[in-house]
Amino acid sequence: MRKPFIVANWKMNMLVEDSVQYGEDLVEKLKRENVDLKKVDVAICVPYIHMAALKVIFVLRNICVGAQNMHYEQSGAYTGEISPAMLSDMGIECCIIGHSERRQHFNETSEACAKKIKAAVMGNIRPILCVGETLNERESGRYKDAVADMLKTSLENITEAEILKTVIAYEPLWAIGTGKTATSKQANEMAAFVRSVIAEKYGKDIADQVIIQYGGSVKPDNIKEIMSMSDIDGVLVGGASLKVDDFVKIVNFDPEIVGKTE
Ligand code: 13P
Repeated sequence: MRKPFIVANWKMNMLVEDSVQYGEDLVEKLKRENVDLKKVDVAICVPYIHMAALKVIFVLRNICVGAQNMHYEQSGAYTGEISPAMLSDMGIECCIIGHSERRQHFNETSEACAKKIKAAVMGNIRPILCVGETLNERESGRYKDAVADMLKTSLENITEAEILKTVIAYEPLWAIGTGKTATSKQANEMAAFVRSVIAEKYGKDIADQVIIQYGGSVKPDNIKEIMSMSDIDGVLVGGASLKVDDFVKIVNFDPEIVGKTE
């Protein structure tokens, strides 16, 4: 049984005061909506400066605080970087790795992602590896090859134990921040494809346990359909995660599944 995993990616947004208000509102609204945080994993991936305050607000609440990037070395002369050891020390539970915006603007490579996944797992941080094709690759029909290549290089030398702790987020670049969502059928086809690439390397038993998310213009009005797809176990949400009300609706995608029963 794969547990749903709903993740907010704030990207480079929010000031400290806003983030504290958001954290407090989130705790209150999830409680009011009767969301059972034992039935769904929730993480908020934020800029580093917000982590300390949110860790305090979420203490004993089953809401994880995550990072959006990290270095793969534990320490050293890497000005401006944050290490897995620093994140573990703060109790950070997950980290987005290889987001398309980092690949595009900061030259992040799949080779670096492989090192980051290893370092994250070693530090008990759940890596969320992002893969996805460009519009050009989609339209030319090369989208499966593009995603398979990214996946294979990013998982180079990753062991069975490590892949079982890794989450894969399929985020087609043409659907990020564009308001253009992949259809649930397209998203599920690619989630199933990602699972098949993992199965080729690690076997079906392992592939069937890996959490695969969809990301790209996820909103309250499309979440239910996306989450009903057989190979999609969660979502990575950008824009719509910045408003607490919208994010709570996304977390509460189906009250029958994530609601308290008592
Ligand atoms: P949007 O939800 O704003 O399209 O962003 C998706 C994303 O990049 C999440 O990592």
